[in-house]
Amino acid sequence: MARKPAAHLERGYIGVGVLGMGVVGSAVVQALGERAGLLAERVGYPLRLTWVLVQDLQKRRRVEVPPSLLTNDFGSVVGREDTDIVVEVMGGEEPAHAYILQALESGLHVVTANKEVMAKHGPELLRLARERGTNVLYEASVGAGIPLVSAFTRDLAGNRIDSIRAIINGTTNYLLTRMGQDGLDFSSALRLAQELGYAEADPTNDVEGIDAAYKLAILAALAFRTPVTFGDVYHEGISRLNANDFRYARELGYAIKLLAIGRQEDGEVQVRVHPAFVHQDLLLAKVEGVFNAVQVEGDLAGRLLFYGPGAGAFPTTSAVLGDVVDSARQILQGGESRVPVSARGERRTKPMADLQTRYYMRMTVADRAGVLAKIAQALGDNRISIASVIQKETDEVARTAEIVIMTHRAREAAFQAALRQLAKSDVVHEVGNFVRVED
Ligand code: NAP
Ligand code: HSE
Repeated sequence: MARKPAAHLERGYIGVGVLGMGVVGSAVVQALGERAGLLAERVGYPLRLTWVLVQDLQKRRRVEVPPSLLTNDFGSVVGREDTDIVVEVMGGEEPAHAYILQALESGLHVVTANKEVMAKHGPELLRLARERGTNVLYEASVGAGIPLVSAFTRDLAGNRIDSIRAIINGTTNYLLTRMGQDGLDFSSALRLAQELGYAEADPTNDVEGIDAAYKLAILAALAFRTPVTFGDVYHEGISRLNANDFRYARELGYAIKLLAIGRQEDGEVQVRVHPAFVHQDLLLAKVEGVFNAVQVEGDLAGRLLFYGPGAGAFPTTSAVLGDVVDSARQILQGGESRVPVSARGERRTKPMADLQTRYYMRMTVADRAGVLAKIAQALGDNRISIASVIQKETDEVARTAEIVIMTHRAREAAFQAALRQLAKSDVVHEVGNFVRVED
């Protein structure tokens, strides 16, 4: 059934329903109550919390909410005439995605913090919102309170964005900071992060680069105005790095960061998440702990850096409230959907095999004459040119040495072929690790 276009005028408020009352949802509900005056002033009309969906109606809540507003039945609230905006802060792909679809189908405006849903289903949800004349706004899904979605859709709209290089996962940046500064190995750094509440009990999405890939898909679609979804993003995690990688990186003048990189070149979009050597003079190398930073190159604006806390109940609530205010203003003004038009047509995603970059590699090799010549031969066979070689630790009993090689720019496919060749070589005991270099 079609919604009455100006129902809010009859009832005297704009109704807001909230899906989820966990870390973020509790702070959103609290802010809608405590900041009612400020929000009414910013919108020019009162907002009112109309319902909150949770799983467990009996759970003790950090923030008090009248029991009459709590429900665990989405079907009973989605069609209600007292609600104009649905805030989705449940998380996970389903049923959050299905609930957002239903809300949009019902003509409601949606505000979401859900990076997984937006990275996997963003194009479909934005299209539906446009068709229904509503909005789906998602500032909180990337970088919490750092204004990124609005910057790309509004403030940088006159630019051609050439690249994004970002640290957009606070958990892994914390782990890399501790490994780099304190010499901790991966599992000790992870244990510490879990004790401090920075890493979840199951850290897979963070440490394997999945969370950063969700966020990069969202940013790249906005920046390059083309549909980019999670499946397009190459992603690698940080668990292969060890203390020696950090030591050698420092000696060579680099920090190691999990970078989310988006670039458009020759009509193709490149989207990848992986650990990278970042030169210590660059601002991104200085981003430490759980902080996020997104560096954007616009052809008019130049190089910009957005920096701040990328998670947490209050920073995320800041972004959610901004979107609620924006939606409420649009409801008052009426008019078409303001969902950004992203589809300038599909653009090819550049295959990882075609990437050209420099590489760091660490290997354990036999410590005897002629070994370096064989390694140089394997790299040369694949047209990879060596920039420097350093022999590090030697084990006199095992007669092995660890060597570190920095290459000149090479094609990823050639580098991977060289790695396979080296792994089979009789002089290489182990290819310990490799890391791409971002200068
Ligand atoms: P959370 O603490 O796990 O809270 C999830 C809430 O959703 C809980 O209240 C839970 O109900 C409810 N819920 C989950 N599944 C449900 C279902 N099937 N039906 C009804 N209610 C359901 O999660 P969060 O940390 O607040 O994160 C929420 C969203 O914000 C996620 O998309 C996350 O990625 C995003 N986000 C979080 C942060 C952050 O710092 N936490 C930052 C940026 C973005 P019960 O309380 O009854 O269990
Ligand atoms: N797990 C995320 C991070 C939090 O570590 O950055 C919010 O997206």
